Amino acid sequence: MKNCRQKIILAIETSCDETSISILKGMDILVMETNTQIDKHKVYGGVIPEVAARLHLEVIDQLVKKALQKAKLKITSIEYIAVTKEPGLINALHVGLIFAKTLTQLLKIPLLGINHLEGHIYSPFIDKEDKLKFPMICAIFSGGHTDLIYVEKLFKYKLIGSTKDDTIGESYDKVARMANLEYPGGPKIEEYNKIKTNLVLTRPKVDGLNFSFSGLKSQVKKNLLKNQKEEVLKAFHDCAISYLIDNIIKASNLYKTKNIAVTGGVSASPKLREDIKKTKLNCFFPEPKYCVDNAGMIGYTAYLRIKDNNYKILDLREDSHPKNSLY
Ligand code: KG4
Ligand code: ZN
Repeated sequence: MKNCRQKIILAIETSCDETSISILKGMDILVMETNTQIDKHKVYGGVIPEVAARLHLEVIDQLVKKALQKAKLKITSIEYIAVTKEPGLINALHVGLIFAKTLTQLLKIPLLGINHLEGHIYSPFIDKEDKLKFPMICAIFSGGHTDLIYVEKLFKYKLIGSTKDDTIGESYDKVARMANLEYPGGPKIEEYNKIKTNLVLTRPKVDGLNFSFSGLKSQVKKNLLKNQKEEVLKAFHDCAISYLIDNIIKASNLYKTKNIAVTGGVSASPKLREDIKKTKLNCFFPEPKYCVDNAGMIGYTAYLRIKDNNYKILDLREDSHPKNSLY
């Protein structure tokens, strides 16, 4: 039998607004083809679930074809299919899952249902498996999540902090909208990072390692009425990023580990990356293309599970799920 380091895996991600396909040979991502729907959702200021599902359906087969061509592989070379099963927008997840089920039946190969958040957790270690050390604290900072997870060992998770209201990504997007900036708000707000201001926003108080952003949003709203927009956005960015980093430091002290992974769309923030470098943490970030939703991280997680012989072949009667059951 071929070593799992050589196995060809086709991975599919459709949990939100990116249709993404990757092909891996063992741990190596041979190709990744992603179609982002951002331009289609921009006009609404956020993702519309029904529109997302229809757009996945329109492009998914073409993306698979393109990926196979680029990898110079025939469809019959695929040995495993990995698909995002949860959590996410249910209609969007469904498109990927039905496509994956059909393909596995045709090819008579195993199907692995992968948790999207587990994909984010391991995304910083794609091409850097030697850096994956336990225990570790993983921060998922995205449009859908603001979670701090204690990863005791491979595939063993404990949620140690989360948001009580909006996620960090949502907060960036809502603040951007208040300031008449386009969706997604994070990169737009980052452009104001060089602005000088004396304005300081206060951090909402919550227990333990949790987060809350709704009070911060209200402060932005009030301050936009009496201050320069640029200064308010810079003050929001400073407050939000220091809040994220301080909770990571707290978690690191509490759980006595300096191994940190910061993932998800917001982990693309240059300010977050620079400011974390000033701490004494051993922090890993994904490459920019693996920060947002992508099939590379789904395939890589499938590879880790196959290698560890720690996976369940998905029963074709099983459905996708909007909620997370990993932790
Ligand atoms: O991971 P992602 O695609 O969302 C989910 O799948 O849940 O991340 C998208 C989020 C958006 O809310 C966007 O505003 C934010 O990531 N984002 C950023 C930056 N780039 C993207 N937030 C802060 N700073 C950035 N540079
Ligand atoms: Zn995500």
